[in-house]
Amino acid sequence: MKINGQHYRTIWLAQDGWRVVVIDQTRLPFRFETVALGSAEQAADAIRNMVVRGAPLIGATAAYGVALAMRADASDAALEAALVLMGGTRPTAVNLHWALARMRRVLLPVAAADRAALAYAEAAAICDEDAALCSAIGEHGLPLIRDVAARKLSGEAVNILTHCNAGWLATVDWGTALAPIYRAHDAGLAVHVWVDETRPRNQGGALTAYELGAHGVPHTVVVDNAGGHLMQRGQVDMVIVGTDRTTANGDVANKIGTYLKALGARDNDVPFYVALPSPTIDWTMDDGLRQIPIEERAAREVTHVQGLAEDGEVRAVRVMAPGSAAANPAFDVTPARLVSGLITERGVCAASSEGLAGLFPDLARGQPA
Ligand code: MRU
Repeated sequence: MKINGQHYRTIWLAQDGWRVVVIDQTRLPFRFETVALGSAEQAADAIRNMVVRGAPLIGATAAYGVALAMRADASDAALEAALVLMGGTRPTAVNLHWALARMRRVLLPVAAADRAALAYAEAAAICDEDAALCSAIGEHGLPLIRDVAARKLSGEAVNILTHCNAGWLATVDWGTALAPIYRAHDAGLAVHVWVDETRPRNQGGALTAYELGAHGVPHTVVVDNAGGHLMQRGQVDMVIVGTDRTTANGDVANKIGTYLKALGARDNDVPFYVALPSPTIDWTMDDGLRQIPIEERAAREVTHVQGLAEDGEVRAVRVMAPGSAAANPAFDVTPARLVSGLITERGVCAASSEGLAGLFPDLARGQPA
């Protein structure tokens, strides 16, 4: 996608050919800064501290983290240590474990001398594939928006609500939930996006608003609690969100607050779609509420908010009463029964075992009964 007319992906190799460059998402939307990661430890820190975030981009960064580790030491022990290091960074997005399992499968049978080059090639392939999967999600999601647009008066915008950031910043390119929106906008359909601010880290207000603005897509940021009210008033035609882990039966974990949006959508007959590439499907799980690990992050993310101070510096300020405890579950699970459809790279399906297995019979083999 483009920033100031220049095409960017969210992760690429530095000119030296080995360091891994990412956009520092903790500085957006106020500063566009890049960071060159030179070790597996730095890649792990970037994931943990959310310099990079979003399920597909976490997976891509972890793959490059393994490549960085192999450049330093390509022994079996170093490979296993790198997989453990990267695997322990964030628990909910399954793309991380998918990418690491793939790196292990490719690298372990190979002689140590060949591992670094192969690891870089595999990480690059994961990135290219993610961009292609997300582009295909956009193509398959576009008809859903077109259908709503066809029922509108000429020129009237399709109003789409989204939560968190599931745009190109969360992936290598295109995004998941935002990919159909970009396609619709580029195809000349009138779309308007309600952007949930997404406390505590404000991925909506900071990142989704930033990238929609950079692409020229009309949007309005709302506080997280506004969605239900907007739906009651008929101001939301559809909801599209991303997911960090979708179980084989179609339950979806996504940023905290997603479940409440799904409840509001059901009560108001608003279609609620979830967009995902197949590496986000966890075929080993069939009960999201009981099985998906939910990340608990630092209380400071709740008690403090980061923003642009009047002196032009990016600073954090405390917004809660000192001394109060704060809890910070980072994700919640929306049961499949509240999901109108899953938008994938192979098409749209029901959020059910049958729906997912119908689109991915090759991957669904071996899924739990
Ligand atoms: O904590 P984050 O910012 O990594 O959470 C990201 C999300 O919840 C996204 O909606 C999800 O990863 C889907 S991204 C395409």
